[in-house]
Amino acid sequence: MVVVKTPREISRMRDAGRIVAEVLAVLREKVCEGVTTLELNRIAESEAAKRKAKTAFKGYSGYPYSLCCSVNEQVVHGMPGDRSLVAGDILSIDFGVIYKEFYGDAAVTLPVGRVSAVAQRLMTVTEESLYRAIDCMTVAHRLSDVSNAVQSHVEMHGFSVVRDFVGHGIGRALHESPQVPNFGQPGRGMRLKPGIVLAIEPMINELGPDVKVLDDGWTAVTTDGGLSAHFEHTVAVTDNGPLVLTTL
Ligand code: MF3
Ligand code: CO
Repeated sequence: MVVVKTPREISRMRDAGRIVAEVLAVLREKVCEGVTTLELNRIAESEAAKRKAKTAFKGYSGYPYSLCCSVNEQVVHGMPGDRSLVAGDILSIDFGVIYKEFYGDAAVTLPVGRVSAVAQRLMTVTEESLYRAIDCMTVAHRLSDVSNAVQSHVEMHGFSVVRDFVGHGIGRALHESPQVPNFGQPGRGMRLKPGIVLAIEPMINELGPDVKVLDDGWTAVTTDGGLSAHFEHTVAVTDNGPLVLTTL
């Protein structure tokens, strides 16, 4: 069952989303050669605490960290550790909080130093696909239009859409109905209406779409070793069109 939010609830979700954006903005400045992903996790935790927000992922289904750090061929749910980033890496950081009873959830993929042309193109196309999907968060669209916007943009550029993970409704729970796949025919599924809030999160691979989860039980990687990128925003449908909640 899809939970429709009132304008008041959406403005509270905006507060949670702003905190997520602020923490990601701090992290973005810290991503460089030599930093470890565990340091980034610590920074995320202290920045959230400063803002009186509780981090969303720690303890979620037993996940032990507040941040997901997925490097290169890691797709999502990479666990922070003492791995130092090196120039040429691409790092996806995914972060969420709960603040005043509502969740916010967002992710970005960032270059570490100079990266290859294909790595840069993958990041750009993935982020573009997120914004194409956001453009579909209006009352004129159905749910699968959001999915199709990602898929069509990504495949036009020769990259592939991960099928095994999807976006999601979000509100008083981190994961609410509906699921938001990043692929599908347009014009299917529920009509979008004001008050629907979705975390839209394209996970896009350089080569094939297949992924597997490592023995740590969390880290999803591409099976072919190709690069992967991930961008995510929490977005509300309003009478005035899409409202991105996870921005500064
Ligand atoms: N953005 C991801 C999601 O919505 C992050 C979840 S990590 C987990 O699923 F540890 F909380 F599962
Ligand atoms: Co999410």
